[in-house]
Amino acid sequence: MTKIIVANWKMNGSKAFITEFFKNFISAPQNFIIFCPPALYLKDVLNHTSRVGGQDCSSHLSGAYTGDISSVMLNDIGCQYVLLGHSERRSYHKETSETVRQKAGHVLKADLIPIICIGESKEVRDAGRARDFVLEQLSHSLPAVSDKTYYIAYEPVWAIGTGLTATENDIIQMHEAIRQALPQQHIPLLYGGSVNKENAHTILALPNVDGVLVGGASLKYEDFNHIVAFSELPMV
Ligand code: PGA
Repeated sequence: MTKIIVANWKMNGSKAFITEFFKNFISAPQNFIIFCPPALYLKDVLNHTSRVGGQDCSSHLSGAYTGDISSVMLNDIGCQYVLLGHSERRSYHKETSETVRQKAGHVLKADLIPIICIGESKEVRDAGRARDFVLEQLSHSLPAVSDKTYYIAYEPVWAIGTGLTATENDIIQMHEAIRQALPQQHIPLLYGGSVNKENAHTILALPNVDGVLVGGASLKYEDFNHIVAFSELPMV
């Protein structure tokens, strides 16, 4: 089955980096590979692939919002996806699930696919409230009505950029809970948080894992080439 593998470059990269990366990137046609570079470099990445997404967008469609970029603009330049509600947006920019929900509505109207991120902090997990927290965040972040596709990325905050990954059991249990809570069938569920070339293929093979969201390891083409090469077909 096709897996969805998203590279979240965060605030990293340059024109020279992009040229070098795509000179060495080996795509894997069996999987969907999506790149989310900083907004300034979307066009540069679009010169190499059509599967490109923004890392965020405004909760408005146009108007007096200095510094913001709308979903319509992302669509206009050729993007197909937008990450929404990443934990770094939620924590550094104080984005609430209600804002994420509003953005998701605009993104769908602009005919883009939102990739909605959810995940609990270490305190919440240690307190044994991870499941309840994540399901509540999910229900408040989902677009109001939608018969269109969106993706969900479960990213435990304590696993992002830390080298700590959720255990296989944690991922299986949380993805199953999210799957059951979703109003529609067939919504792709991605896992994110310290996915790397060592653990990616094991995570991608878990039940209810339709893909991965990769931060740090997506900046190294050798590592990312290995991650995207995942195949469910037995190696011969
Ligand atoms: P990481 O980041 O792979 O560097 O942990 C993942 C993310 O924040 O999407």
